[in-house]
Amino acid sequence: MKNRLPDSGAKYMIVGGRRLYGELQVMSAKNSILPLIACSVMTEGEVFLTRCEMTSDAVNMADIVRSLGGKCSFRDGGIYIDCRDLSSCRVGSELTGRLRSSVFILGPLLARAGSAEICYPGGCDIGPRPIDLHISGLRALGAQISENGDKVSARGALHGARIELPMPSVGATENIMMAASRAEGVTVVCGAAAEPEITDLQNFINACGGKVRGAGTRRLEIEGVKRLHGATFAPSGDRIAAGTYMTACAICGGEVTVTGANPAHLASVTGILRRAGAEVTELTNGATVRSDGSPRAPGRIETAPYPGFPTDLQSPLTALAALSRGTTYIIENLFENRFRHIPQLRKMGADITVCGRAATVRGRRLNGSDVEAEDLRGGAALVLAALGADGTSTVCGLSHIDRGYYDLGGKLSSLGADIRRLP
Ligand code: UD1
Repeated sequence: MKNRLPDSGAKYMIVGGRRLYGELQVMSAKNSILPLIACSVMTEGEVFLTRCEMTSDAVNMADIVRSLGGKCSFRDGGIYIDCRDLSSCRVGSELTGRLRSSVFILGPLLARAGSAEICYPGGCDIGPRPIDLHISGLRALGAQISENGDKVSARGALHGARIELPMPSVGATENIMMAASRAEGVTVVCGAAAEPEITDLQNFINACGGKVRGAGTRRLEIEGVKRLHGATFAPSGDRIAAGTYMTACAICGGEVTVTGANPAHLASVTGILRRAGAEVTELTNGATVRSDGSPRAPGRIETAPYPGFPTDLQSPLTALAALSRGTTYIIENLFENRFRHIPQLRKMGADITVCGRAATVRGRRLNGSDVEAEDLRGGAALVLAALGADGTSTVCGLSHIDRGYYDLGGKLSSLGADIRRLP
């Protein structure tokens, strides 16, 4: 596995107009890997998560585990984690500020050590990202939690409980599932998130000796166990990365096969790409996209919890809409501020009006321009727009993109895109 990509001041130089051809394999989903690394803190044995790329979010999560005394190493195409001996139950702001998912450490650490102290998490600025549901869920499990300045301190022995989530928060569902899996007694979570990453977490906990069922439905049942052991686990392929590459092909034209992802996880994006005129063939482990490179407006796109259209693909699809023939309406229901890529797309000539959570995108040709990524998926959207634009673009702010895509430029270049990473 290669070392981390250098990020400071790096940018992509992209010449638009190349068609994409070839095959690309996606690795384990970043959004599965992060809670799984955190969950490993509860295990007393060696964990190996396969096909784990060194995205900067994964590297930062590993740093958090190391700061607690655990061992983590990226080897053999995956990540080894050994948390038999932990020496601390505190994570400072320098580490938690690096990623939103640092909050995942709270539940597992509390369940393992009986106390945990973390600082508030950082991450993409895509609107307010409260952690109240994580905290109230852990409180229902018996944790005493105090919030002081930027610190959250939790302690206490955990017991089973019945928890009703007012909204299906992915992260809160995961934090509660992890903590409850080592609590005393049975926990029932109603209104749980049903994303494939929740199923991955359930399957991982069970592979380590836990007793969780119901993932993929709104009701989870978790029977606490005294200990969790290590395991080798293969998380599902990254559906968001797969959707990004499929969208790139629909924009640029050509024929791209994406493997390593479950096509059922891609159903909502597949439907939209077909409406945009792309031909999508589902395979047992991915999909092939064929496109003539002149997409038509896919109509209305509305983000929703799984199995609805994922908010993480809203920005890449906005890039497609901006380059399509006709008008697309995009409604972002999950996050308030997930339109930060739009002012950047306008620099390329995009005709987009935003009103609250709705964006009206009137498709047209785009021109190469100098743009800046301000969040992870928005950054990917700018890269895709640049691939479909006339002329040359530069995209800076690559540290955002590196958080969730390992070597995005290299992968697109292997498909024939004219994209270079400049240090
Ligand atoms: C996860 C994903 C992220 C994705 C999102 C929605 C990871 C690492 N990240 O983020 O890529 O975009 O799911 O699919 O898996 N909320 C509260 N209180 C809380 C928690 C959440 O009000 O305590 C709200 C959020 O503000 C948001 C909504 O619930 O409006 C959904 O957020 P959530 O599902 O928790 O997203 P994350 O787990 O942060």
